[in-house]
Amino acid sequence: MTILVTGGAGFIGSNFVLEWLAGSDEAVVNLDALTYAGNLENLAAVHSEKRHIFVHGDIGNFDLVSQLLAEYQPRAILNFAAESHVDRSIHGPEDFIQTNIVGTFRLLEAVRAYWSKLEGEAKSQFRFLHVSTDEVYGFLNKEDPAFKENNRYEPSSPYSASKAASDHLVRAYHHTYGLPVLTTNCSNNYGPYHFPEKLIPLSIHNALAGKPLPIYGDGQQIRDWLYVKDHCSAIRRVLEAGRVGETYNVGGWNEKANLEVVDTLCAILDQLSPRADGKSYKEQITFVTDRPGHDRRYAIDASKLERELGWKPAESFETGIRKTVEWYLENHAWVANVTSGHYRQWVDQNYGERS
Ligand code: NAD
Ligand code: TYD
Repeated sequence: MTILVTGGAGFIGSNFVLEWLAGSDEAVVNLDALTYAGNLENLAAVHSEKRHIFVHGDIGNFDLVSQLLAEYQPRAILNFAAESHVDRSIHGPEDFIQTNIVGTFRLLEAVRAYWSKLEGEAKSQFRFLHVSTDEVYGFLNKEDPAFKENNRYEPSSPYSASKAASDHLVRAYHHTYGLPVLTTNCSNNYGPYHFPEKLIPLSIHNALAGKPLPIYGDGQQIRDWLYVKDHCSAIRRVLEAGRVGETYNVGGWNEKANLEVVDTLCAILDQLSPRADGKSYKEQITFVTDRPGHDRRYAIDASKLERELGWKPAESFETGIRKTVEWYLENHAWVANVTSGHYRQWVDQNYGERS
């Protein structure tokens, strides 16, 4: 049996592919456009693995996707491919519309054509699992209960609006055509292979490079953090036993203010890789101009996933964040490679204009 993963050279997708190949006999066709966020080095451990078939291409390429479906006859599609960074969506929303909305639509069209010709068990057991975000629900105030699956969609950035549109398309393909879809909406991930444009890897990278640790606004915005391998285990569980057409929220019950996250990272780095001058990395924290339309708080209620499918995260924030720092300390070469070239232009663009 084979599964087709899209975006499997990115942060979460590559963690998923590595774990899938290690834990199952099935092959993985990995379709990835290798944008700035896609990196084949994430998959170095499976370069000689015959069950990993990497295809460089776009989810919006109907002909290519149709050809892959015909050739490999996957039993499931897992759609990770997306433009995923809120700040980039503010600087340039076009790519987000193209990949997250138009790309998902074309992918769904190709999958619908393939699935409609399947028969018997191959048809009834087929699944299209769409990986989405908690950001589609908008933001919460301090006292609000965490997001449940039936919360209204109120996205507020071009990124979250484009993901919301893709979620609606996926569910419409179930409702209208009967395509057996599943949707997961997860909170902020962190862990190995996280591109250092997002808060946690950027802070670790900048701390070790002796650069400022930029905190947007007052640093009191709250995110609900989940270790990436827990997200992958939730996706595997939903694929295995999720009810067709349903949405499952995935989260770690780990609400933290940004400043607290960066303080924690600094404290771990102070222990594991102390600064030469003996001072704390906290000295490098710098408050900068806030993100426009910055969502104040996200929090996920993952009780449906626990109640229906028995899933719970294995890591606490404390254990997961320590593993993450250790991974970055042990993988200098990976960090050095991804922070060369275009990465520098992004840093200049995003941080150059923040006072
Ligand atoms: P990422 O940006 O690290 O990786 C995205 C991958 O998709 C890259 O490998 C990129 O090359 C590929 N890609 C982009 N456009 C493509 C296209 N048109 N065709 C084929 N491949 C394309 O993202 P991530 O953090 O790994 O997120 C994966 C998914 O999980 C996304 O759908 C994202 O919305 C969702 N998600 C992410 C988080 C998070 O905290 N990172 C949380 C919840 C949900
Ligand atoms: P990010 O990792 O970009 O994820 P998202 O915007 O999808 O939640 O940002 C996490 C939080 O950290 C968010 O509130 C913005 C904030 N942030 C900073 O304060 N400084 C930074 O340099 C970055 C990248 C993010």
